[in-house]
Amino acid sequence: MDGGSEKSAVRNARILIISIVGVCLVVGFILVIRLTAQANIPVSDERPDALAGSQDACVECHRQSSPGIVQQYSHSSMASANVTCNDCHVVSADYPGAIAHEGSYVLHSPSTAKCQSCHAEETAQYLQSRHALPSWVAVVGSKDLPADLMAQYQSIPEGQFAPNKERNAIAALEGEDITHFACETCHAIGKPAVDSSTGQCQKCHLRHEFSLEQARKPETCNACHIGPDHPQWEIYQESPHGIAYATGGYRYNWEAEPGTLTVKDFPAATCSVCHMSGFGGAPTTHDVGDRLSWYLFASVSQRRPDWEKNKQSMQSVCLECHNQQFVNDLYDKADNATLAVNAFVDQGSQIMTPLREGGLISPKAFDEPIEYQEFELWHHWGRTAKFGLWMQGPDYTQWHGAYEMVKTLTEMKAMAEDILNQ
Ligand code: HEC
Ligand code: HEC
Ligand code: HEC
Ligand code: HEC
Ligand code: HEC
Ligand code: HEC
Ligand code: HEC
Ligand code: HEC
Repeated sequence: MDGGSEKSAVRNARILIISIVGVCLVVGFILVIRLTAQANIPVSDERPDALAGSQDACVECHRQSSPGIVQQYSHSSMASANVTCNDCHVVSADYPGAIAHEGSYVLHSPSTAKCQSCHAEETAQYLQSRHALPSWVAVVGSKDLPADLMAQYQSIPEGQFAPNKERNAIAALEGEDITHFACETCHAIGKPAVDSSTGQCQKCHLRHEFSLEQARKPETCNACHIGPDHPQWEIYQESPHGIAYATGGYRYNWEAEPGTLTVKDFPAATCSVCHMSGFGGAPTTHDVGDRLSWYLFASVSQRRPDWEKNKQSMQSVCLECHNQQFVNDLYDKADNATLAVNAFVDQGSQIMTPLREGGLISPKAFDEPIEYQEFELWHHWGRTAKFGLWMQGPDYTQWHGAYEMVKTLTEMKAMAEDILNQ
């Protein structure tokens, strides 16, 4: 081999190496771009801007005065389907709550009646659920409901089961300046509007995107299902379903056509998959009570009127991913554990009975420390234990639930002794 061909061999090898490195860099770069794109680009950005070049007066002017609203709405599926600002906002001059605006009359807050005109089925299901009137009645009571709303309230099959209104005494202690931002914000999901239609769909379908992805994500439910008394969000986060969502949820098919969802779209369960989405044998529902067998929120839980049918619906969701034996086993054990929590709550009531019967504590609610203990026993710890065991949150069942119950019972006994011996 002469010197020249040796050099050209070295040069060829160099060119080869440089080419390989170059190709690797380009391929790597493309892969990184594609992966970050998949992980980060919100779906709404992939949908075309349906209002680009729109001549609609509302759109043109609001593009200046509130561009955020137009930007969000322009990427919604409703905008693509030619639903306009007018369809939700514009009403006749005599419509309750109408505001004169730029030559027409608009609603500041489109009510359920507006959504209902196009979404009758979802609205009908929602109105039969505890998210509707029962949730508002829970805070303000039913005595001031006008006749039509009273009839609607009374027609809700699971709506009137409503024991334990101790919280209302707490609301009274706190005062309306506070409860406006507290009880009423969450419970407004079922608040009647001025046109006397019920509820606020926008508590779950944030305006103006009205995106399925947003409604389906568990963070939407966590607006209200959170905290020491109903920590469904925290429980979900520590459950295997929540871990699967946190680590792989970006791959789920969030915009899948409703009613057709399968394990290919959602490989693990979300709040919506278990409680609302059409999945397995269970059809899509806006009645979140449809799949529940117990009234878990009560101090002492009892069965719901249609509990066997509801249980079957929920189980048909589980069965898409688990086998019947696994699910039966969990339900049997969870039924027993629910009864065990009931028994702890009963023990608390027995501690209080001689104090109440002997007139040793005042009839006024929440003016003595032991009443807070009695309340937290079921309202915080008992319910947390039940929610935890039904939704796979062992830490909530144990250290934020059952442990707090046995500790509280011990403290209540000591406090009751002191009062009896005074
Ligand atoms: C010429 C400009 C213009 C046009 C046309 C217009 N708006 Fe507005 N709109 C505004 C401005 C500015 C505000 C904010 C007013 C304020 O803050 O007091 C507003 C406020 C609103 C509000 C809130 C009302 C409230 O009191 O809270 C709604 C709802 C609304 N517009 C809907 C519409 C709809 C629907 C249309 C089409 C029928 C429309 N607007 C047409 C400029 C316009
Ligand atoms: C599908 C029904 C729907 C459509 C379509 C719609 N809105 Fe709304 N809009 C709502 C709802 C619901 C609210 C929230 C009311 C609340 O939370 O109190 C709202 C609130 C508003 C408000 C007042 C509150 C705020 O955030 O400032 C303005 C202004 C408004 N919309 C403008 C528009 C404009 C402009 C369009 C068209 C580009 C439009 N809306 C299309 C349902 C709709
Ligand atoms: C004028 C009729 C009309 C009104 C009023 C209306 N919608 Fe819609 N909505 C539609 C149509 C049509 C679609 C179907 C879009 C599609 O499937 O592509 C839709 C789709 C939706 C979707 C599904 C979004 C998706 O990506 O599939 C939601 C959620 C929704 N609407 C909520 C509401 C709410 C909440 C209100 C009241 C604040 C409301 N709509 C008022 C006609 C309407
Ligand atoms: C704006 C607050 C709010 C949001 C958001 C919310 N909920 Fe609720 N939810 C409530 C309230 C309040 C109740 C209690 C109603 C009652 O029994 O008085 C409730 C009750 C329930 C119940 C029990 C129903 C029954 O029959 O006892 C289920 C299940 C439920 N919600 C699931 C969900 C799911 C799933 C989501 C998210 C897709 C969600 N919720 C979003 C406020 C909310
Ligand atoms: C963070 C949101 C939130 C706040 C704040 C809140 N609640 Fe609730 N409340 C809920 C949810 C969610 C449930 C349903 C729990 C379940 O079904 O497991 C509920 C259940 C209830 C129930 C039992 C259901 C019924 O219809 O009897 C009552 C009563 C109640 N709340 C009253 C109140 C009162 C009074 C306040 C204020 C002192 C308050 N809540 C504050 C979210 C909230
Ligand atoms: C508790 C939260 C919640 C409330 C309140 C709520 N929705 Fe929904 N909505 C959802 C979820 C979650 C989905 C997606 C269900 C699925 O996975 O298929 C949905 C889906 C929808 C769809 C699309 C359904 C389809 O088959 O295309 C419409 C339309 C809709 N909702 C309208 C409404 C209307 C109208 C109201 C008020 C009467 C309302 N929603 C109240 C959570 C809610
Ligand atoms: C794997 C399915 C599954 C997931 C995921 C799930 N739940 Fe549940 N949930 C259940 C079961 C099962 C029950 C108890 C059913 C019964 O009573 O038979 C329940 C009970 C509840 C209750 C109690 C209702 C009452 O009687 O007081 C609420 C509220 C609730 N879930 C909300 C949520 C929320 C919010 C999320 C998400 C943060 C969620 N769930 C996630 C299956 C699930
Ligand atoms: C869409 C699929 C899917 C649905 C629906 C589903 N799960 Fe799961 N589940 C999973 C996955 C994935 C895991 C974690 C991996 C595993 O253990 O296989 C899991 C794990 C569990 C575990 C194991 C808990 C532990 O600590 O090991 C229980 C219990 C459970 N699920 C109960 C239920 C119940 C009850 C339902 C119905 C109310 C349900 N699941 C619905 C996918 C699902």
